Amino acid sequence: MLDFTNQVVIVTGAGSAKGMGKVIANTFARQGAKIVICDIFKEGVDANVAELQAAGHEAMGFAADLTVKENVDALIKAVMDKYGRIDVLINNAGVSQKVTVADMTLDDMKRIFNINMFGLFLLTQAACEVMKKQNYGRIVHLSSVSGKRGGGVFGGAHYSASKAAVLGFSKNLAREVSQYGITTNCVCPGLINTPIWASMPAEQAKAVIDGIPMGRPGEPQEVANAIVFLASKEASYITGEEIDINGGSHMD
Ligand SMILES: NC(=O)c1ccc[n+]([C@@H]2O[C@H](COP(=O)([O-])OP(=O)(O)OC[C@H]3O[C@@H](n4cnc5c(N)ncnc54)[C@H](O)[C@@H]3O)[C@@H](O)[C@H]2O)c1
Repeated sequence: MLDFTNQVVIVTGAGSAKGMGKVIANTFARQGAKIVICDIFKEGVDANVAELQAAGHEAMGFAADLTVKENVDALIKAVMDKYGRIDVLINNAGVSQKVTVADMTLDDMKRIFNINMFGLFLLTQAACEVMKKQNYGRIVHLSSVSGKRGGGVFGGAHYSASKAAVLGFSKNLAREVSQYGITTNCVCPGLINTPIWASMPAEQAKAVIDGIPMGRPGEPQEVANAIVFLASKEASYITGEEIDINGGSHMD
C-alpha cells in the first residue's frame, strides 16, 4: 500500500526548516518517491534537498517565487527535463498575516491571495497539462480550517478567504480533470505544531487548546499522513474532497 516508487512528487513551500512542507516531502521520500522541493527560500531548499539526498533519496530543488508565471513554467521544464513526468503536486506554499479587516489594506489582501490562491492556480494549471498527457495525476492543496469557519488565531480574513477559495477551486477543477485520471483534493488542518505555534503567548495558547477536543495541536506528520493517502494510487475514487485534520475542533 501507498508505494510511490518511481513517482515524481512536487512539494511547494518545502524550504522551511520546521514547516509542514519538509515533513510532507520526507514522508513521500520514505515511500520511494522522487522529490522536487520548491520554495522562495533558497537556503532552505538547498538544505532540505541535501538532507534527503544524504538519506539516500532522489531529490532536486527549485528555488523561486511561485507567484510568477515564468518561474512556474521554468519549474515544470526543470522537472520534465530531469524526471520526464509529474505524478503528484502538493500545493503547500502559503502565507498568513494577523490583521483585522478594519486595519487591512488592499495590498495585504493581494499579497495573501497572490501566493495562497494565484500561485497555486498557476502551478496547478501547468502541472495539469503534464498530467493530462500521462492520463494520471494527484493534486493535494493545503487549505485550512479557517477557510471553512474563519480563523483569527494566526491569520486574518484575507487568509481565511484565500483558503476558502482553494476549496472551491479544487472542486471545480475536479469536474474538469477527472476524465484524465487526475484527482484534486484538499486537506484542512487546524492548529499544527509549526514554529508559529511555539511563538504563541501561553495564555492565548491555552485558550486555543481548550477548543480542541484532543487537547493538543496536531503534528506536521499527522497532516502529511493524510496527504500521502490522498496522493496515492489507492485513493483513486476520491476527488473534489477535503479532509479535516484538526483534533475535532471543527466537524462538518
Ligand atoms: N501551521 C498551521 O497551523 C497551518 C494550519 C492550516 C493550514 N496551514 C497551511 O499549511 C501550509 C504550510 O504551513 P506551515 O505552517 O508549514 O508554513 P511555513 O511558513 O513553515 O511554510 C510555508 C512555506 O511557503 C513558502 N513560500 C511563501 N511564499 C512563497 C512563494 N511566493 N513562492 C514559493 N514559496 C513560498 C515559505 O518560504 C515557507 O517555506 C500553508 O499553506 C499554510 O497556510 C498551516
